[in-house]
Amino acid sequence: MGAKKEIFIRGIGSYLPKRILTNKDLEAIVETSDEWIVSRTGIRERHIAADDEFTSDMATQAALRAIEDAKIQPREIDCIIVCSVTFDMAFPATACIVQKNLGISECPCMDLEAGCSAFVYSMEVAAGLLQLGCYKNILIIASDKLTSITDWEDRTTCVLFGDGASAVVLTTEAYGARAMLVDTLLRAYGKDCYSLMQPGGGCRHPASAETVEKRMHYLRMNGREVFKSAVRGMGAILKDIFLRNQIEPTDVQHFLPHQANMRIIEAVAETFQISLEKFLIVLHRTGNTSAGSVGIAFDDGYRNGRFAAGDTLSFITFGGGMTCATALVRWLL
Ligand SMILES: CC(C)(COP(=O)(O)OP(=O)(O)OC[C@H]1O[C@@H](n2cnc3c(N)ncnc32)[C@H](O)[C@@H]1OP(=O)(O)O)[C@@H](O)C(=O)NCCC(=O)NCCS
Repeated sequence: MGAKKEIFIRGIGSYLPKRILTNKDLEAIVETSDEWIVSRTGIRERHIAADDEFTSDMATQAALRAIEDAKIQPREIDCIIVCSVTFDMAFPATACIVQKNLGISECPCMDLEAGCSAFVYSMEVAAGLLQLGCYKNILIIASDKLTSITDWEDRTTCVLFGDGASAVVLTTEAYGARAMLVDTLLRAYGKDCYSLMQPGGGCRHPASAETVEKRMHYLRMNGREVFKSAVRGMGAILKDIFLRNQIEPTDVQHFLPHQANMRIIEAVAETFQISLEKFLIVLHRTGNTSAGSVGIAFDDGYRNGRFAAGDTLSFITFGGGMTCATALVRWLL
């Protein structure tokens, strides 16, 4: 093996569907209030995909923006990874549908499921493949149509989620790169895996009249358990990545947390005594968009000129699995 290659982020993009559902709109659907939702989560509105707009469509839009930002042609992408918990179908892989939409032929395509941590999970997977010298430009897309598995009769979950997608192009080519991937750290806590799930539709509970009647095709969550696990898991993994890179939280200019709940973010900020101003927040207008959320915040920060050359960015995610992941990125431009 030769020297370890450096991994760069060459292009960034995201996509949010047009339709907006506000907390006021939700008041007409379930017994809830704008005040309850804002005070418990920080969410004010979320984007909702059209009936005929699927995870692959949002993924394609985010991918096109990332490819344009990378200043390359779609044919220069030589591997596609799509992350989601709401793939278009059980198979074929949504990555293959995106490949077709992008008009690319032959490059390997795969789906990766790691809940809301999948974007950072795929960065590590893609970095490993790039290190091996297999590919030049790997397209990572995280896209979810969570509203397709939202139980609109369950007020404890339906107020939390929205639809959207984000994408990055990773490469070993330094020329024109926007950022460098410094380190990633991934974890999972399978012992708590049933705290957040969609029980129906897999081989354990194939679709039947019974699974529909029992509402097993909708997302189910033990909110309190997930909340506690998220704060604990994110705190622990951040501490460990800081330690192994010998940096302090004060060395980080921007934190990009999974956009699930403002109170979770506040708890993490408090653990490390970090000012909330260092956290990029979009959840008030996106809700929890699952795998894509951290990339949507990344693209938002990038397009709004939040990052300066030499800044250190810390991604921190938590989600179904229960998975937990973090990445350190250095902004270059
Ligand atoms: C879901 C969550 C916001 C609920 O907040 P909470 O403070 O734990 O609220 P609780 O579940 O204790 O419910 C408190 C009360 O509000 C009620 N309530 C729940 N949802 C409500 C809603 N949308 N509107 C109004 N009241 C609601 C409950 O019925 C309960 O009423 P009760 O005390 O009469 O029984 C919180 O647990 C959470 O954010 N969990 C993590 C979720 C998450 O981020 N998941 C994704 C990870 S990828």
